[in-house]
Amino acid sequence: MKSVIVLGAQWGDEGKGKIVDIYSEFADTIVRATGGNNAGHTLVVKGEKFIFHLIPSGILHPGKKCVIANGVVIDPKVLLMEIDRLKERGFLTDDAQMKIGLLANIILPYHILLDKAREEKLGNRKIGTTARGIGPCYEDKIARIGIRACDLVRPDTFTEKLRANLDLKNFLLKNYFRGEEVPFQATVDEYLAYGERLKPYLIDTSLFINQEFKRGAKVLFEGAQGTLLDIDHGTYPFVTSSNTTAGGACTGSGVGPTKVSAVVGVSKAYATRVGGGPFPTELLDDEGQKIRDRGNEYGSTTGRPRRCGWFDAPVVRYANRLNALAGVALTKLDVLSGLSRLKICVAYEIDGVRQDEVPLSLADFEAAKPVYEEVEGWKEDISTSREFNDLPKAARKYVQMIEEVTGVEVSLVSVGPDRNQTIIRRNPFRA
Ligand code: GDP
Ligand code: IMO
Ligand code: MG
Repeated sequence: MKSVIVLGAQWGDEGKGKIVDIYSEFADTIVRATGGNNAGHTLVVKGEKFIFHLIPSGILHPGKKCVIANGVVIDPKVLLMEIDRLKERGFLTDDAQMKIGLLANIILPYHILLDKAREEKLGNRKIGTTARGIGPCYEDKIARIGIRACDLVRPDTFTEKLRANLDLKNFLLKNYFRGEEVPFQATVDEYLAYGERLKPYLIDTSLFINQEFKRGAKVLFEGAQGTLLDIDHGTYPFVTSSNTTAGGACTGSGVGPTKVSAVVGVSKAYATRVGGGPFPTELLDDEGQKIRDRGNEYGSTTGRPRRCGWFDAPVVRYANRLNALAGVALTKLDVLSGLSRLKICVAYEIDGVRQDEVPLSLADFEAAKPVYEEVEGWKEDISTSREFNDLPKAARKYVQMIEEVTGVEVSLVSVGPDRNQTIIRRNPFRA
């Protein structure tokens, strides 16, 4: 039995989709356990691009089982669209390849409207959410008024729950936010139709995954968002509404933590962030723009330009502490080619005092000034490197420096978006 969690070690968009696609070759079952379609995971296979918001990134490997577990919040419209597109492209030919948790909470139109209305009301204090209804859906789950996938296939239960929820949500939408209301009957009809279509995939996913373990299957958990966006440990309130850290994979999928053999943190060779919140190494100058252009740093979900900055070691050290990383998969190293000097933030200075750890208070994080170490860059195009020793000396030194300042081994180096533009140094399924 081997199981590996792949998760984001920074603020999301680290390249988890690509890494999960690569590791899927060595796994039997791939599980999404947290988040929703706020995620946008991009894979490029032989030049062909795929973006997944809900379906696990292992789906392109025929015969591998893909699970959307109970901890995920599902927008059924988005999921069905994703399923349809995949089928059009010749994938998911066997419906048995995909399983969806009966207990997963469903995103309804009022969640999306409330997400948008709240952000608008916050004005310049807004979180910069993806406007997909994620926060309001998780709130309902915790408030125990959520509508779950199992309710979509029970018309009476769904109708009753929706009626009760709309009573409150429409009151809020109309009277507090002065916006549009959600119609009752049209929503009943629309969502029960989604339920009919999703029915063949709905199962007890915790039971399924644990049975997979019993038969000796290798399980890969695909994290969403990133460690610094974790609801408990991230840069609150500039976070998402779920646990993006390793524990989330267990609670979200109904799997005991002792079943997990290793956690791999995905990190870019620099740093990016979408939405508001502290970002000490952010570059607001030409250098930041250069990284944005070269790295094509525009969101896969919302198309928003990503904020770009230097590699922040305290952030990845924090991710190591919270997730007990066995290794870092370092992505987008190719993007740094051609920059003459590179900087790595090794600590912060807050009110004139050096601090090695990520500060827990938002005010301190916002005040944190990066303490940099500079290293030499390299000019060569590294996108065709397939072995660590193919990389120019300065690039190897940069990777080694990241290992030193984070205390984590770089077990994979990614030098381009394509599946084959990858240097695997240690395979977590074999190690
Ligand atoms: P995720 O949300 O963590 O899966 O990451 P995203 O897919 O949102 O963003 C990562 C982007 O970087 C995608 O467009 C990937 O195709 C791309 N990418 C991944 N690894 C590399 C790499 O090593 N080099 C380059 N140039 N692009 C990469
Ligand atoms: P993947 O899985 C990057 C950010 C949003 C916002 C905050 C809250 O592709 O790495 P939400 O809609 O979740 O309430 O937004 O979290 N965010 C992400 N940033 N990558 C993601 O997912 C993200 N999912 C949410 O930009 O700042
Ligand atoms: Mg993404």
